[in-house]
Amino acid sequence: MKHAETAYLQGLAKKHISPVSTRVTDLVIKRAKGARFWTTDGREYIDFVSGVASNGLGHAHDSMVKAIQEQAENLIHFGLNYGYYESVVKLSEKIAQIAPGNLDTIFFSNSGGEAIDGALKMARAVTGRPGIIAFDGSFHGRTLGATSVTGSSSKYRTSYEPLLGEIYHATYPYPGLLKENAPKNMMRYSLSQIESLFELRIAPERVAAILIEPVMGEGGYYPAPNEFLQELRKIADQYGILLIFDEVQTGFGRTGKMFASEHSGVIPDILVLAKALSGGMPLGAIVASRELHEKWPTGAHGSTFGGNPVSCAAALASINVIETENLVKRSEWLGKKIVQRLKENLRKYRDIKDIRGVGMMIGIEFQPEVAAQIVPAIKARCLEKHLLIMSCGVNGQTIRLMLPLNIKEEDMDIGLSILENAIGELI
Ligand SMILES: Cc1ncc(COP(=O)(O)O)c(C=O)c1O
Repeated sequence: MKHAETAYLQGLAKKHISPVSTRVTDLVIKRAKGARFWTTDGREYIDFVSGVASNGLGHAHDSMVKAIQEQAENLIHFGLNYGYYESVVKLSEKIAQIAPGNLDTIFFSNSGGEAIDGALKMARAVTGRPGIIAFDGSFHGRTLGATSVTGSSSKYRTSYEPLLGEIYHATYPYPGLLKENAPKNMMRYSLSQIESLFELRIAPERVAAILIEPVMGEGGYYPAPNEFLQELRKIADQYGILLIFDEVQTGFGRTGKMFASEHSGVIPDILVLAKALSGGMPLGAIVASRELHEKWPTGAHGSTFGGNPVSCAAALASINVIETENLVKRSEWLGKKIVQRLKENLRKYRDIKDIRGVGMMIGIEFQPEVAAQIVPAIKARCLEKHLLIMSCGVNGQTIRLMLPLNIKEEDMDIGLSILENAIGELI
């Protein structure tokens, strides 16, 4: 028999919540703590999705709950145009401290997509140029600007054309993204596409920004080679183009560094952050040097809720835990350990094309011939066994694991065993 409260809430949801967003499960969540959550019908699950890499510390970390409660008692919302408050000022100082290079000034928004849109506006406003170069395979969000730079699926763009003008795409330097046999030197191939864009489509002097995810998320969990990012830095410097890193998914320890840019040593001109920035509260950030921000005319951009006091207090608490509990280092070694275990246990299956990880951004990629059928089956089997996982990839070919950085090893082991068994049974 169906659980009454669950059925009632599911019924209301089906009636009143827009069906436009993809629905992965019909679970009704009552409570969540750490890497576990409980449904209204009393079932307990392990969560390897972490709010799509947003709950870096898992669910309801005590420090975050305390900071949110204390902040809410004093100030829930004010509007950053009308005054400063401690949580936003201290968070700005903190981000300036941990961000690479001279990126010390922050504009706050409410989400990743919104921050991407703001970064595109900023790049156009400060350079006076229209062009943006982004990469096929990349995902940057759902607002119209972010949709225009996204190249991970035509489904995100269809029905919204015409999208923003003067946006050009080159291929992200990862061979798996090509249908044909990939060239030997994929990095050269992608760079030559940028050169061709400059020759055939838009002069480099008309390009405001090159936008890239240093490790591709939604498109399939592919890291860009460090040398590629270094080459992009050189191109940007040569032509006065701004380099924007979308670290919405990679930021705050996910890749075994505080920011993924640290792997290549490349300092972008604009760093876009969201998701784990505030550990599950809505917040996004456009981080750049003071000099660059001062070129963005006052009044040219803004936000009612951006830099919300409660979100900023949550972010400060979350970053504090990441630092004091050494979770960036933990992400590095635990990520390696998980990849090693998965390789040992899953290497035997031919349908698996690759197992890779950068810190705790871990992907299991399936062969293109089987992915469309096997990946949904694995996700469904895991859910039956009370493990929530998610996939990604232009063709849904990769199972992505986004465990909390502080996950208890016991929870991790239970979840990984469920996943390995599901793969073993279905492959
Ligand atoms: C790399 C990247 N950029 C931008 C976004 C958009 O963020 P939001 O959903 O907060 O708008 C996402 C979300 O998945 C993302 O992974």
